[in-house]
Amino acid sequence: MMYRDSEAPIRDVLIIGGGTAGWMTAAYLAKAFGHLVKITLIESPRIQKIGVGEATTPNLQKILFDFLGIPEQEWMMEVNGSFKAAIKFVNWRKREVGAPDNYFYHAFGVLPNVNGIPLAHFWFHETLGKGEPFGYACYRQPLLLDALRSPRFMDGTPAMPSAWHFDAHLVANFLMRWATARGVQRILDEVQHVRLDSQGAIAAVETTDGLSLSADFYIDCTGFRGLLINGALGEPFFHMKDQLFCDSAVAAAIPHDDEALGIEPYTSAIAMKAGWTWKIPMLGRFGSGYVYASDFADEDEAMRDFCQLWGLQEADTNFNRIRFRTGRNRRAWVKNCASIGLSSCFLEPLESTGIYFITAAIYQLAKHFPTRAFDPMLIDQFNREIEYMYDDCRDFVQAHYFITNRDDSAFWLANKNELQLSDSMREKIAQYKAGLPVNPSLSSDNDYYGSFENEFRNFWTTGNYYSIFAGMGFLPERPYARLAYEPEQVQEAQWLFAQIKQQQKRLCAELPSTYEYLSHLHRETDSAARSPALAISHKEARS
Ligand code: TRP
Repeated sequence: MMYRDSEAPIRDVLIIGGGTAGWMTAAYLAKAFGHLVKITLIESPRIQKIGVGEATTPNLQKILFDFLGIPEQEWMMEVNGSFKAAIKFVNWRKREVGAPDNYFYHAFGVLPNVNGIPLAHFWFHETLGKGEPFGYACYRQPLLLDALRSPRFMDGTPAMPSAWHFDAHLVANFLMRWATARGVQRILDEVQHVRLDSQGAIAAVETTDGLSLSADFYIDCTGFRGLLINGALGEPFFHMKDQLFCDSAVAAAIPHDDEALGIEPYTSAIAMKAGWTWKIPMLGRFGSGYVYASDFADEDEAMRDFCQLWGLQEADTNFNRIRFRTGRNRRAWVKNCASIGLSSCFLEPLESTGIYFITAAIYQLAKHFPTRAFDPMLIDQFNREIEYMYDDCRDFVQAHYFITNRDDSAFWLANKNELQLSDSMREKIAQYKAGLPVNPSLSSDNDYYGSFENEFRNFWTTGNYYSIFAGMGFLPERPYARLAYEPEQVQEAQWLFAQIKQQQKRLCAELPSTYEYLSHLHRETDSAARSPALAISHKEARS
């Protein structure tokens, strides 16, 4: 037994920080444990929230919003939501002078397979990489994305797996209203001092207004500051700048004529001289930011290249300058304090893992939620899950920089020559080159997105590896040997390729444009009708 000598339930949880991580955690815990546990969140009225236009992954609906009971259309309306069915990687391949931009899509969803062998292997077996590009041959999406089709039919029925873009402030605000309506107590105040007990656990937090607040369990959602986990508890943060060089960003919101130009249903990641620029289409504007390595470009230079990309005038644009720390805490949960969000770990946003890390951590926290005994097994297990999730994503993002053949600046050369790859990533690359499957086969989108356990451990599927590797022109050295013995399966794969073509054509004709869908969804209606989730039933209300 560690802190309190009892297997009795936690009585109260204190969440520090009212950004996206804080309010997502508060809402989830209220739903999961609110009938027994008192949940309080302290939010500083002064500290700025980091949240910018944010991109997510498809599991957000199942892990978070389905759990809360809020349908997609409903929360999208509240948060300026738009769709993200893929990431479009622009100019990640070497470009000859005067050549047009090159690009490929990294689409969501699990590849079709034949008897457990993902279609990717048949694609390479058939074409040796010299025929139709991987994405267009194996996924329905790329053709539809080029045509700016909506990932949903007009009635909301999904046509392809999709994630979302949204304004993170609005998500925090929406969940704040949802959670406080369900009994979460919100305190507007600021933590000034954290008091430890004799065993080094957190005893109380003291605020600017003179309050002393204590709880059985503390959740640190204080962003990069890590006020409790790093500050008070002194847990070391593992910096990983030698594994991913980018450490800064300059960002802005840029007006956009949706009606004339349409809305892109994807995030773009445009490679630049010392990093890359995101483009996140929202309504009437897009969010964009140049993520760069300060060792390779100073702020003025980054600003200049960013302005040049979009034709911005430096003088009349509002810029957001961001510094970030790449890495994770040695342990995400220490004693009676778990960290969630930026206070726990951060990876540059190339594969939109930020919100995923938050929802995954909340899910794991609920799964390993302790009693007052704080069983060390639960803590260790939670920490192992977070560590695995983070390191696996870091490896995958790192591989983008390692695999690209760009060599036109000191930044890209350093990525080629100086990166330290993990052993497991080296092994995956070797398997890929040998034509072998890099991951266990998954049978369908439904199985995949339906089972969180399966998904956390296999977040990057064979389709994800092929999208990036083949998309960048990095091909296996030979086809999967086994296919030499499987003429019937090869034939079945050919049938699947033809199916994909047909579906592309049919969906392209049937789906509305993303602009049509979103302008319909976000059309003016009175706000009472817009937020049924906030109108809670008597039964749901706690006090
Ligand atoms: N397995 C994840 C998913 O499909 C992979 C993923 C994360 C991904 N971020 C992505 C796929 C961005 C495409 C684009 O949800």
